[in-house]
Amino acid sequence: MASVTAAAPAPTPAPGASQAPATPGSRILIIDFGSQFTQLIAYGMNLIAHLEGRVITPGERAEYGRAELTIDESAGVFAGLPRGEKITVWMSHGDQVRTLPGGYKVVGESTNSPIAAFRHETRPIYGVQFHPEVAHTPRGSELIANFLFAVCGAEPSWTAGAFIDDHVSRVRDQVGNARVIAGLSGGVDSAVAAALVHRAVGDRLTCIFVDTGLLRRGERGQVERTFRRNLAIPLVTVDASDRFLGALTGVDDPEEKRRIIGQTFIDAFEAAAADVERLPGPPATFLVQGTLYPDVIESASPRGGPSVTIKTHHNVGGLKPGMSFKPIEPLRELFKDEVRNVGRELGLPDEMVGRHPFPGPGLAIRVVGPITRAALDTLRHADAIYLDEIREAGLYGDIWQAFAVFLPIRSVGVMGDYRTYDNVVALRAVTSSDGMTADWFRFPPDVLARISSRIINEVDGVNRVVYDISSKPPATIEWE
Ligand code: XMP
Repeated sequence: MASVTAAAPAPTPAPGASQAPATPGSRILIIDFGSQFTQLIAYGMNLIAHLEGRVITPGERAEYGRAELTIDESAGVFAGLPRGEKITVWMSHGDQVRTLPGGYKVVGESTNSPIAAFRHETRPIYGVQFHPEVAHTPRGSELIANFLFAVCGAEPSWTAGAFIDDHVSRVRDQVGNARVIAGLSGGVDSAVAAALVHRAVGDRLTCIFVDTGLLRRGERGQVERTFRRNLAIPLVTVDASDRFLGALTGVDDPEEKRRIIGQTFIDAFEAAAADVERLPGPPATFLVQGTLYPDVIESASPRGGPSVTIKTHHNVGGLKPGMSFKPIEPLRELFKDEVRNVGRELGLPDEMVGRHPFPGPGLAIRVVGPITRAALDTLRHADAIYLDEIREAGLYGDIWQAFAVFLPIRSVGVMGDYRTYDNVVALRAVTSSDGMTADWFRFPPDVLARISSRIINEVDGVNRVVYDISSKPPATIEWE
């Protein structure tokens, strides 16, 4: 839910809307951010209708994925789009506004949602049932820009440079003369967070990289080279792979894997941090975390209310109770694309900023079922071939995330004169702008053919490769 201050006179409060976050001179855009994860509590447009006294009921069928929206009015959020034009939008809802509240007007409709967008007839209140904020609504940013800049009169004053200046001084104020520790995962978020904090406190920052044994092929070396060379930040690497694999043996439940990894990570990290703390100088009181906004909302309601936990992201609230560090989370309000812009502005190399996201629990949640060293080795090999071929085809930058998944089943095959009974590897590649919703990537068939034949020929113990064609929602990006 976003409220935007504008210079216009205050709208008259809607009946029953006293709890709406309206401030004098504000107009409210409520985008339906919430309903994709909590089907029983549809937000946004549904909330407006509810506050206006309408009953929200489940639609005849839930609507996930692409839909065609017909524009009924070429004004307001739809300014610049001709009346009658059909645009592709992304839907993700079970509930629906069935009857229009008094004083409102339908401004967009789809086959399944006759009231897919509405506005108040005289007050600047808009509601949309679809998701203009995701890449799968190709003209969504125009709609949001229309609302912010034309309807509300807001100024586009957010820039990566201004964000950095603001957060550098905030971090300096927060940290004072203390020293800071940052955990690096090898991914974009922790790198950008560390670089930002480094700009604020210089060599009072020490980075710690825990090798969990759940990393992709060559990742540790790459992280060490990149951080030492590009960032020139003191870096401590801890090899904790035996400890992680020991703790994960025989575990197949995804949430249990995350819990164990979170716990083991903190133990390994704490031991390394204690070593850093023993170095001469002021105490290391702060810990940088690369938490992003989607991590925050997918693990818990950002406002502290109840919400369904889809997956426990261990980088959220990952500090042990009683742990002496105070967290610094400079990216907590940002989406991934904004983090990348901040990273570029900080001068990080593209090979780092442009990297696909990699989950904290690493390959543990890409070996479906029980984890073994052999499964991890097989997966690492298949994954390396997959990413190699994607880069070779020049497609890496078009994809949000691509990875291989090791499945806990075997299938029959034939190689030469022999029957095989071997492992299956699934390939996942998705497009997305923030990881909250995603669509499967359409590979040219010859690229898929090359990847499959290389994996089957080169990776011992794999005789079958399948490609995942599920969008998020209803599937998630990771398999576990
Ligand atoms: P899902 O699978 O929930 O993933 O659609 C959305 C994004 O989050 C990443 N992901 C995680 N990241 N810890 C993380 O740090 C986790 O436990 C975790 N689970 C998923 C996933 O790779 C994708 O980018």
